[in-house]
This record gives sequence, structure tokens and C-alpha cells, in this order.
Amino acid sequence: MAIPVLFKNKLSLPVICAPMFLVSSPTLVISACKNGIVGSFPTFNTRTQDLLDSWLTQISSELTEYAAANPNKPVAPFAVNLVVHHSNTRLTSDRAVVKKHQVPFVITSQGNPTEVVEEVHQWGGLVFHDVICADHAKKAIQAGVDGIIIVSAGAGGHAGEINPFALVREIREFWDGPLALAGAINDGMSVRAAEILGADFSYMGTRFIATEEAEVEADYKSMLVNSQISDLIYTDTFTGVKCNFLKPSIARAGVDLASFTAKTHVDLDLGESNAWKDFWSAGHGVAGIKHVLPMAQLVEQLKDEYRSAAVHPAFQSNYD
Ligand SMILES: Cc1cc2nc3c(=O)[nH]c(=O)nc-3n(C[C@H](O)[C@H](O)[C@H](O)COP(=O)(O)O)c2cc1C
Repeated sequence: MAIPVLFKNKLSLPVICAPMFLVSSPTLVISACKNGIVGSFPTFNTRTQDLLDSWLTQISSELTEYAAANPNKPVAPFAVNLVVHHSNTRLTSDRAVVKKHQVPFVITSQGNPTEVVEEVHQWGGLVFHDVICADHAKKAIQAGVDGIIIVSAGAGGHAGEINPFALVREIREFWDGPLALAGAINDGMSVRAAEILGADFSYMGTRFIATEEAEVEADYKSMLVNSQISDLIYTDTFTGVKCNFLKPSIARAGVDLASFTAKTHVDLDLGESNAWKDFWSAGHGVAGIKHVLPMAQLVEQLKDEYRSAAVHPAFQSNYD
């Protein structure tokens, strides 16, 4: 698949640092882009449109300056995540700010992206849409999106329930445009594997929470380093939609884990944002996170793993 011009010579790896509620900040986005992977954030991380405006000004100006000073380095474009579900009361105001800044890359989730696609195409931007099944992908393609993001089983946040092998191959039967794959991708071998499967990009969230640039509580990062898949629970208890949460964060918030199951009703007075603040999400790849690293070091590590996955004897097939 030919990659869109927006990304040509701008990426050091086919990786998107995925948007994460209460996690993605300008610091994380800028450090990702400076290291040649797409940085992104959900507009919900800014409490007001004024703040959204100032984040976008900061991100674009720092990246423009950095690219000018480093003409031989790939500096990735950044993306903004818009929730296009009809329940999002701030969508119109957020769209106005996104339009003002002519954001080059917009990631839409949870709804019909048609209007956003028409608008973003006016300034030549791209829209990729999050899907968890083939039917959603077909609808997004009808809406005119430029790319599909498959959020498969095992992803951090509101994960889908379908195996990535099955879903990438199913969607590749009718979509030959840009495709990103999300769900437990943590290292360069997996980025290479996702490409072989048919995904042009790896869409990685959890791994980037354990970076020095992620502005979250230190306990969240150490919990990621110390957790295994068995420390996760897939539940809709806290947000109304099924999501992978770290059990130690649930215990830390005062819930008795001994009697807690995915269906337990927790009698806490929680709004959506408090749920995400108190209960921490991670994808199934969590067991592979051993260290909190600076973004630059993590990207170098991903690059080494990605390259060695193609040439190292340990990764050669016995069946060629
Ligand atoms: C803490 C957290 C918050 C997230 N918030 C959002 C969000 O606001 N919007 C969104 O589209 N996806 C969100 N996601 C999902 C990610 O964008 C991405 O699909 C997912 O992290 C990929 O799986 P991985 O974490 O296993 O790499 C979130 C994920 C995490 C871990």
C-alpha cells in the first residue's frame, strides 16, 4: 500500500502514538513527532476550546521550528482525536478550533465521520476512523475516510473484542487504503508483524504511558512495569463501555478486589472523567513493559527491534 503523501519521509517507523484520555499532552505529542512517529491527543484532554487552541498553537509551532532546524530528520505530522458520537456536546466548537489550525490529521471515533471528513478534506487533511468490526469499517469507507484504525481485542482503553489476525484479513478483503492496527503492540517485532499481516501502521497506546514524557502519576507508570495480563480486567463497570483496566488501580481506589468481577456494580460516585482518573487502563501488551524510557530511547529500541525482526537469524523462517 502506498502511504499518503502526508507521511512521506516524515516517519522513522510506521507507528502512531495513539490518543489517550487524560494521558496525551503536548509534551508527549511533540516528543513523538520529533522522533518520527505520529503524536496525537483527544480534544477532551483540553477542558476548554481556548486551551485546545493554545495546545494546537504550541504543537504546530514547536514542530515547525524543530523541522526547520533539523532538515534531515523525519518529523512526523500530529493528529487530533474527535469523538463524533452525537452525545458529544462540544464537537462543533472543537471542530471550529481544528479548522482554524487546519490540523493535518484527524482521528475520529464512535460515530459517523461524514461531516468531519468533508470539512478536513477542504484543507487537504486526512481522516482515519476507529473501528472494532468490519461493518463499522464499511460505514466509515462510505463516509469517505482516508484510513481505518482497527481497535482489536486486547487494546488499552475501549478495546474491541475481535482477534487482530481475523479482523485485519477480513477488512483487507474490501479495503486497500491505509490501515492502522491497535491492540497490545509494544515492540518493533509486533510493528513488523502488523505490516506483514496487512496493516500499514501500528497504533500504540499503553507502551507510551511508560515514557518519561507521559504526564501521568508515577504510580501508573510503575504499575505498568510491574503488571501482567492477569492484572487486567475487561469491564464496563466504570465507563459504560467495555475497557481493559489494571486491577491494582481498582484496589488502590478502595474497591475490594477479592469480590470484584467484570460485572460487579461499584457504588462510587463517579463521572466519566473521575473513572479514568482513578482507574487506570492498559492493553494486553502490558507484560512486555519492563522500563519507563525516554521517548527517544523507546523509539530507537522499536527501530532496532523492527529492523532485526527482518534480518536477525532468530526471526528467519525454517519453511522458506
Ligand atoms: C489510558 C487510555 C486512554 C485512552 N483514551 C482514548 C481516547 O480518548 N480516544 C480514543 O480514541 N482512544 C483512546 N484510547 C485507546 C488508544 O487510542 C488505542 O486504541 C489503544 O491504546 C491501543 O492499544 P494498546 O494500548 O494496547 O497499545 C485510550 C487508551 C488508553 C490506554
